[in-house]
Amino acid sequence: MLELCVCIGSSCHIKGAYNVIQTFQQMIEEKDLHEKIRFKSSFCMKQCHKPGVEVSVGNERHHIPAEEAREFFNTVVAGKV
Ligand code: FES
Repeated sequence: MLELCVCIGSSCHIKGAYNVIQTFQQMIEEKDLHEKIRFKSSFCMKQCHKPGVEVSVGNERHHIPAEEAREFFNTVVAGKV
C-alpha cells in the first residue's frame, strides 16, 4: 500500500493544498486505486520555505505547484502503484 500525504498546514493551504487534495481524490477515484493508495493529510511538514504544496509519496518528499497536481499524480504517484 502506497502512502500519499498532502500537507494542509497554513502555508501549504495558501499555496493550494485544497486543490491538490481534490485532484488526488478524483484521480484515485478515476483510476480505482483505493486498494493501492492510503491517502492522508498532515499538519505542517516543516517545509514551508519551499515553493509549492508539500506532498509525500512513500518515503519521497516533493513540493508541487497546485496546478500541476494532475500531472504529478500521473507521472509520479501512478508509477509507484
Ligand atoms: S504548511 Fe506545509 S510544510 Fe509547512
